[in-house]
Amino acid sequence: MKLPHPELIDLIQRAYSFEKAAAFAYQGHAGAVKNREEKKSIKQIEDDEWNHRREVLVLMQQYGIPVSKNYEVRAHIIGKVISASCYVIGWFMPFYFAGRLESGNVCEYFRMKQYFNSLGITEHDQLLYDMGIKEKEHEIYFLEGIKTNKLLPLFQKLFGWGDDESFNNIDLDRKYPVGESGIYCKTQGPALQPGEISPGICDMQEQPVK
Ligand SMILES: [Fe+2]
Ligand SMILES: [Fe+2]
Repeated sequence: MKLPHPELIDLIQRAYSFEKAAAFAYQGHAGAVKNREEKKSIKQIEDDEWNHRREVLVLMQQYGIPVSKNYEVRAHIIGKVISASCYVIGWFMPFYFAGRLESGNVCEYFRMKQYFNSLGITEHDQLLYDMGIKEKEHEIYFLEGIKTNKLLPLFQKLFGWGDDESFNNIDLDRKYPVGESGIYCKTQGPALQPGEISPGICDMQEQPVK
């Protein structure tokens, strides 16, 4: 079956390629940190990204979506550049920008789920939910690492992500189940609690949640 949804196809192709960029970036990041626990955790996150890429490829095969050469080349270069830069920009910045990137990635999978649902396809709900939640766990891992760092307030001001500002409205401590997760990545303003009504729709990538 072909998907009659160009935005969804593009989102899937991008996600596939940029999972590779993320995995490459984490190779450099893990190589550059000295702490053994951090190395192990970042290697685990790299493995998670390769898993995501495999899962997304299965989706692409199911719907006959080709791999985008353009995205593949871009993702390769970006991933390798970030990877190399981890060795020269110190400890804080790779943590900060990884967390910021993960924060944006969360909604890619919830948006994918919304697009599939708009076509009446719900069979991928659990998979996409799990991948979105995993990205949120990655975001929180990096945030925890820099939460008390004195550079964070400045970076948050400059780049719009930090301790109380995120590109998504997921709260891991109060998760919605998959059946109610349509509320994720659709709402503007602070993360809603179960039972609250969504005030509107916006692109979470553009509008960090404060
Ligand atoms: Fe991922
Ligand atoms: Fe991730």
